[in-house]
Amino acid sequence: MGDRIAAAWDKLGQHPAPALMELFTDPDRVAKLAGRIELGEGQGGILFDWSKTHLTDSLLGDFEALAEAAGFAEARDKLLTGAVVNPSEGRAAEHTAQRGIGRDTSVEEAFALHHRMRLLVEAIHQGALGEVRHLIHVGIGGSALGPALAVDALGHDLALVDVHVVSNIDGCALERAFAACDPATTLLAVASKTFSTVETMTNAQSVLRWFEQNGVDDPGGRVIALTANPEAAVDWGVDETRILPFPETVGGRYSVWTSIGFPIALAMGWDEFVSMLEGARVVDEHFRDTDGRDNLPLRAAFADLYYARLRDCQTRACFAYDERLALLPAYLQQLEMESNGKRVMTDGQPVTGPTAPITWGGVGTDAQHAVFQLLHQGTHLVPVEFIASIAPGDQLDPMHHRMLLMNCFAQGAALMAGQDSRDPARAYPGDRPTTTILCDDLDAAALGALIAFHEHRTFANAVLMGINPFDQFGVELGKDIAHKIEQGGTRFDASTQALLEAAGLA
Ligand code: F6P
Repeated sequence: MGDRIAAAWDKLGQHPAPALMELFTDPDRVAKLAGRIELGEGQGGILFDWSKTHLTDSLLGDFEALAEAAGFAEARDKLLTGAVVNPSEGRAAEHTAQRGIGRDTSVEEAFALHHRMRLLVEAIHQGALGEVRHLIHVGIGGSALGPALAVDALGHDLALVDVHVVSNIDGCALERAFAACDPATTLLAVASKTFSTVETMTNAQSVLRWFEQNGVDDPGGRVIALTANPEAAVDWGVDETRILPFPETVGGRYSVWTSIGFPIALAMGWDEFVSMLEGARVVDEHFRDTDGRDNLPLRAAFADLYYARLRDCQTRACFAYDERLALLPAYLQQLEMESNGKRVMTDGQPVTGPTAPITWGGVGTDAQHAVFQLLHQGTHLVPVEFIASIAPGDQLDPMHHRMLLMNCFAQGAALMAGQDSRDPARAYPGDRPTTTILCDDLDAAALGALIAFHEHRTFANAVLMGINPFDQFGVELGKDIAHKIEQGGTRFDASTQALLEAAGLA
């Protein structure tokens, strides 16, 4: 297998790199390089367009050969049937079971746990915990980014409950939430897969103290635990009826589909949460049932690897031309960089090329007036992805949304075409690749589909690089050192020691 993979990469490395504009001499290019995923009857869909990238028929063919050599179909089958795909931790990665695709027992368990969550959400809506106007959701990383993204994206004018996602240990974050909430009508969700993460547990304690200090009768009765470690939640004092467990086999950054999505269901209602799951399931089915370049998350991985490994691009940028997706780049940063920021392959050998590019981005049109200078004229080649919705999220004069979309498409055209000038400072080199993801509408189903698309894209990248996307040992060392600092008694390097002393911490 190793030789076949090396041969496939060799062949890929021999492709010439014609200018993007030249590729459009093929009159069918747009039809060949764009694809749609339909979200179901009357639900619209999502268009994915790679025509402004350097992918060609023959490159796609050679990437298909790489996928075959890397055992992509077998790896996908293992993922979607609950086999062990995280060998360093001996675990399956069963986020798709939450959407109904997976091992039967895992799908049944997900269904039962969702039902339990639904009962609690509906009981709260019916007043079982008194009047609830605010939710402070404490969690970090995967236990925060998904709910924050979804509530921000979908909560525009729908929110039944005002949600504050607090992740940072910096007390300023919690103080902001306190300032916006009335303690008498606030619930606390403690979201932690392990129920041991220092930031989350510290913030949770501080919320309890805030309840006490503000005369809330039974602070413990305002707590809901979202966790894969229900025993730890019980030990911490959460009543079992308010613990919403989820399976150990769902990774933190893949957990928005589990009870970690509680704020989504509480704020937007159960049906919206289910629509997200259904949108994700459509993408799961597409990913499971489609082969080669027609498999759109796999095709996205081909483009990612082309730029990361064959064109030496160290970053990829994602710009949401939609204010509702302002938190998407941060979500994708964790998904892609925590999953694929690795230096060894699953067999422990060093990787044979760069792994995850650095994901960064922002929102259009704001970013145009801040960072796009570098994209157009800087020395880095940055593959850019635009994400937009044809239907507007606002009720204002339609001119707003028209201008938003026109700007988005104009940037892609400009980056590709460039422009000559006799003045070098005014010349645009062009030939800069972009991908466009265009949703018919940005509703809950489309958001679920977008997230699932990126999950599968991340997985496909990992398979083609031979790495394990489901562990994250790289986050441990810093936590250990912070713990040692807290305990005292360890002397660190001179620089760290000096900083600790300057801050009165040593
Ligand atoms: O430190 C990284 C990490 O483990 C992430 O993978 C995870 O999403 C986050 O911390 C939070 O972990 P937990 O949900 O266990 O609190």
